[in-house]
Amino acid sequence: LISALQAKPLAGHTVLMTAGPTYEPIDPVRGITNISSGKMGYALARALALAGAKVQLISGPVALPVPYGVERIDVQTAREMHQAVMQRVGQARIFIGVAAVADFRPLDVAADKIKKTGDGLTLNLTRNPDILAEVASLPAAPFCVGFAAESQNLDTYASGKLQAKRLQLVVGNLVQDGMGGDTNQVVLFDAAGSHPLPRASKTEVATGIVAHLAKMLEV
Ligand code: CTP
Ligand code: CA
Repeated sequence: LISALQAKPLAGHTVLMTAGPTYEPIDPVRGITNISSGKMGYALARALALAGAKVQLISGPVALPVPYGVERIDVQTAREMHQAVMQRVGQARIFIGVAAVADFRPLDVAADKIKKTGDGLTLNLTRNPDILAEVASLPAAPFCVGFAAESQNLDTYASGKLQAKRLQLVVGNLVQDGMGGDTNQVVLFDAAGSHPLPRASKTEVATGIVAHLAKMLEV
């Protein structure tokens, strides 16, 4: 599989991508985040670079080294991620949203640490921008790839996201199959249907995704 990338099928292509979680502060010492190790996104960034692409990786907080040949831009919140993407998307041929973006953020961020005075605490949350949907609806949108991590009904939800966000490709997985670990089992959804990839290391899964992507870009 790795040898499929040595032909550099993505040479000359610029890929902009997101990975990792976002972190939405509540106060100076606390925040809301999503579970994401960043491993799948980083493996994909590495495979894209190996395939010859110029890769810009907008990354939430993760404990991973920058893959060789990849430019990483660090962000914390969904709004910072959104801004970093919008600044660069004009130059990108392909956009891939791998990040587990927090759908909501606290409406107000407390300037000081919140003290536990009452018996309960209510947080007011507000919607974050949908980065992938916004990129896909640009007049000169790049080729758009989304990820869908679901806990049930993978086919329905993943193909629903393909249509709703008007994407060219969705990589779906059941969270119980991939989260945090070093292997993953994914199904690729595109206009032609669904294509399951075998359970494999995240490196091999990333290679499979890039090979599929390169084939789609060929035609
Ligand atoms: N995504 C994004 N910005 C957001 C939310 C999601 O760019 N604010 C991207 C993710 O990076 C992923 C895709 O959209 O590629 C699907 O994310 P997911 O959370 O599965 O879908 P949502 O549309 O947020 O729907 P829900 O969480 O309700 O299932
Ligand atoms: Ca979401």
